[in-house]
Amino acid sequence: MKRSMRAMLVLLVASPLVVSVAAHSADKLVGNAEAGQSEVMMVCAACHGADGNSTNPQYPKLAGQSPEYIEHQLESFHSGKRANSIMAGMAAMLSPQQIADVAAYFSQQKEAPGEVDKDQVALGKSIYEQGVPAVGLPACASCHGARGLGDAAKLVPRIAGQHAEYVEQVLTGWHNGQAWGDGPHAKLALSVGQKLTVAQIHAIAAYVQGLNASP
Ligand code: HEC
Ligand code: HEC
Repeated sequence: MKRSMRAMLVLLVASPLVVSVAAHSADKLVGNAEAGQSEVMMVCAACHGADGNSTNPQYPKLAGQSPEYIEHQLESFHSGKRANSIMAGMAAMLSPQQIADVAAYFSQQKEAPGEVDKDQVALGKSIYEQGVPAVGLPACASCHGARGLGDAAKLVPRIAGQHAEYVEQVLTGWHNGQAWGDGPHAKLALSVGQKLTVAQIHAIAAYVQGLNASP
């Protein structure tokens, strides 16, 4: 047993190809926004918009989203932790370098602000800023930030200006128990969805779309 392990090690060290692959995967890939742009134009733009501002509200805006979060979600689609048949196919098509490239491109685009639904603002704002203490739901702002810009280092997404229809769809999925895997963030997201009522989800989704709309 020991002897064959050593033989393998010698083989690994002796082969320059294996060594360079191992060294490469240890480094974090640096995204090239220009290369990302051509990939986006060919594939992603049809749904997410050429500049990451999708016009169809069932597709999320990706403009201004952190590269870390975009990469994280593409990996989740690929592994099936976040189940979506369209995006599973898209993610499977991309190499790790292409993932870094499209993430760099989208993160550098400017997000077009969304419109505010005045009827939903009061309820949405109170949940966003104060949470729902009765059920132990913390304020959305405590994680996503007062202006909804998220926290890239902690993989908390930017949500400001996101389409209400998409946000409602995501929160309703969690509300109904469809988790994005079983990691700590997925469990957290599931509990956020489950602590909200259907009416509260509608209001908070409308509020998020209008967040940060005016300076
Ligand atoms: C045919 C339409 C379509 C195409 C083309 C497409 N997407 Fe998507 N994308 C979707 C849908 C639908 C969702 C939402 C999935 C869900 O509800 O879980 C999504 C979600 C995402 C998300 C998650 C965003 C978030 O806020 O959580 C990322 C990242 C993403 N797509 C990246 C890409 C990239 C990169 C490409 C191009 C390689 C691409 N998509 C091509 C339809 C598409
Ligand atoms: C304790 C921190 C925390 C709180 C509180 C919180 N979130 Fe989140 N939220 C997260 C994290 C982390 C993710 C990423 C989940 C993942 O990657 O699986 C997320 C993801 C989301 C997404 C998915 C965005 C996308 O496009 O992928 C939406 C929408 C969202 N949160 C809305 C809300 C709303 C609305 C509230 C308040 C009712 C809220 N969140 C409260 C941490 C939080």
